[in-house]
Amino acid sequence: MKFNKITLALAFIINITRLVAQSPVLTTGNVETVTIGDQDITFKTTNAFGKITVYSSSIIRIRLDKNPLKGDFSYAVVGKPQKTKTTITQDDAEITLVTDSIKAVIHKQPYSITFYTPDGKIINEEEQGLTTSWVGNAVTTYKKLQDDEHFVGLGEKTGNLDRKGNGYTNWNEDNYAYSITQDPLYSTIPFYIGIHHHINYGIFLDNTYQSDFNFGASNNRFSSFGVRGGEMNYYFICHKRVADIISSYTWLTGRMPMPPLWALGYQQNRYTYYPETEVLRIARTLREKKIPADGITLDIHYMDRFQLFTWNKTQFPNPVLMNDTLKSLGFKTTVIVDPGIKVAPGAPAYESGLKEDVYIKYPDGQNYTGQVWPGWCNFTDFTSEKGRGWWRKQVKFFAASGISGIWNDMNEISTWGQKMPDNVLFNYDGKQTTHLEAHNVYGLEMARSSYEGALEQFKERPFILTRSGYAGLQRYTAIWTGDNRAEEDHMLQGVRILNSLGLSGVSFTGMDVGGFSGNETIPLYTRWIELGAFTPYFRNHTTLNTKSAEPWTFGEDALVIARNYISLRYRLMPYLYSTFYGSTQNGLPVMRSLAIDYTFDPNVLSPEFQNQYQFGGAFMVAPFESTREYGKVYFPGGTWYDLYNDSVQEGKQTRVVPLSLNRLPVYVKGGSIIPMQSLVQTTAVKPTDTLSVHIYNGAANSFIYYEDDGKSFAYKTGDFYKRTITFNPSNRSITFSEAEGSYPSQFKYIKLVLHGCGQVDGVYTGKNQYKLQNDAYSFLNATSASDPMVNASPRETCPVKYVVIENNAKLIQLKY
Ligand code: NOJ
Repeated sequence: MKFNKITLALAFIINITRLVAQSPVLTTGNVETVTIGDQDITFKTTNAFGKITVYSSSIIRIRLDKNPLKGDFSYAVVGKPQKTKTTITQDDAEITLVTDSIKAVIHKQPYSITFYTPDGKIINEEEQGLTTSWVGNAVTTYKKLQDDEHFVGLGEKTGNLDRKGNGYTNWNEDNYAYSITQDPLYSTIPFYIGIHHHINYGIFLDNTYQSDFNFGASNNRFSSFGVRGGEMNYYFICHKRVADIISSYTWLTGRMPMPPLWALGYQQNRYTYYPETEVLRIARTLREKKIPADGITLDIHYMDRFQLFTWNKTQFPNPVLMNDTLKSLGFKTTVIVDPGIKVAPGAPAYESGLKEDVYIKYPDGQNYTGQVWPGWCNFTDFTSEKGRGWWRKQVKFFAASGISGIWNDMNEISTWGQKMPDNVLFNYDGKQTTHLEAHNVYGLEMARSSYEGALEQFKERPFILTRSGYAGLQRYTAIWTGDNRAEEDHMLQGVRILNSLGLSGVSFTGMDVGGFSGNETIPLYTRWIELGAFTPYFRNHTTLNTKSAEPWTFGEDALVIARNYISLRYRLMPYLYSTFYGSTQNGLPVMRSLAIDYTFDPNVLSPEFQNQYQFGGAFMVAPFESTREYGKVYFPGGTWYDLYNDSVQEGKQTRVVPLSLNRLPVYVKGGSIIPMQSLVQTTAVKPTDTLSVHIYNGAANSFIYYEDDGKSFAYKTGDFYKRTITFNPSNRSITFSEAEGSYPSQFKYIKLVLHGCGQVDGVYTGKNQYKLQNDAYSFLNATSASDPMVNASPRETCPVKYVVIENNAKLIQLKY
């Protein structure tokens, strides 16, 4: 009898254990053991191992794995934990971790974590019943959906600015002529920002396996993020302002280096310009037609049968001479590169890669072979130092041909069929892994190799562009949004993708202006090129067999408008270059969703106004389809000036504005400080010696003005010119701080141009009085009688007052 009872009890326990063991979902379970360090907590739960580390008062990292945690490694993260004031205490139920900005409470039974503001408001909490769990090797963290919670960011994603109600996947993919709802695209940046109750926070999931995000898609309970393998490894970032969240995220994953100045100029592209006489014809026509431009890009036909590190000698008999001629015309050349090296016995690049054993392999040691442009190819293992080193050496080929930019394409990896086998092996910097873990980081490491190769081989700052990437790509490369379509909604979708990339730490971004696939209408082209002038990387591109899309191919009106806006961009170069400098320092994007500065204004996230953005801190652009006659614009808090005529609009209001094709709706924020230069046709030519500094009456503001030689690395050792320009209407002052750095400014004079300053008629500094002159200033040039600016509407001008003063590097204090 006794035996029977024991048997029954045992059978019961075994069955319960089986039931639990058979559950297809493995939960984290209860916290069992805890070790507390100065600013970290290591713990074991029923089913997992965990570690929580304070990186700064605003950044906390969480790691969880079914297996004991492995050594630390990341392709994205460069920031290290900083010594931070941290208090960690525990009792039977909870562990509490407090920094100056965040309080984190780890509940022990079962494990879950909640983040609070220092005054006790919930920022973000795990969904209690779900927390973090595994299905097979996939691990997901579930966060309780807060009331009225919204989400922005996640890098290169289609869809609305507000990601609420949607789910996304990260698995880098070649997407020819993708639709405006396509997901995934080419790049993976698993970083987003959550917003609710006047609180915002960021989450960066650092794991290169396929990742999936759910922002309340098909559920009203949670937002979640998960990966198909590896550990749950995320950084929680909290600040009061979204701008500071982006700064912390880019402190963690790195910031962009100073770009070469020429890369901010207009770039002319198509798939493909050849032979070299055609390339030169395009360059010369840009000059003849007075369309400022700095770059020509060569697509795959410059190569001999698409084989990397070759020139097609029939089409390009003398690339060095061609590039020299382009240089003498003020152009830099960028060439495309793909990762696939054609399996071509005897070909130098292929043989050298084979000899140095740099290609990715199957587990049996045979090189993986896949098909792309040149036919069957092997692929460099960019996740190994050996592979990257080999590629860096190959970049010499471009240096020897006079190339200045490298455009990394097809690096998702794209192969025909797009089904690279899971069992292909990658070095993953000594931690050999399969395609499943390496796929999403391949593009980043290719761009890195090109960047590092160019640093070694080029004499000047290189320009690197990539299609595919992973978090942290901004350290090496600019990115463009791949094969969009010549359609109205693609133009607007492109704006949102660039804004999302900016929210996700990538500042140097662009889209194919005019659309890659298909033929654009004249109005669409016109509107797109106007918009392109207000995007960080400004390149016109189109695919094979489409109509030509250079600015002169759409008729005289489109040409004049394109010239007007490209010229405006060149006149804005000092503002743009200084804004890029800002990105290198604080990670803030050049192209800024209004969600950065006006996060808690609900209009900003609404689909109606979601395409509006700031270009640097001064301009607000309102993009609309070229087919519309009227558009509704939302003006967030502040005072806004119409760029073209200075009419003033007070903020927190909407206005329906008439639209015309020769005028992109652009507004300037009151208080803005905008340095401008005279028009040049290429950044290779110096502007006149007067820097115009436009100041718009409004809120107090400051602007960091930055100059250097635009091409060398001398700025790194102090050869730059930097000063802060401050406008303070409360004491009626404009101040130029003493210049820092050893670089002499190229401007001898400063022309102060005052907008909206009313009755003021003079400025004085110490005993010097300067009388202000009146002017009617135009941001767009009227260049001919057929200029639509002249014909379609009365030429618009801004009533301004100006004065010219000498620019010396000393402190300049002006009162008005
Ligand atoms: C695909 C790229 O996305 C496109 O921009 C390029 O023109 C083609 N590859 C050809 O190289």
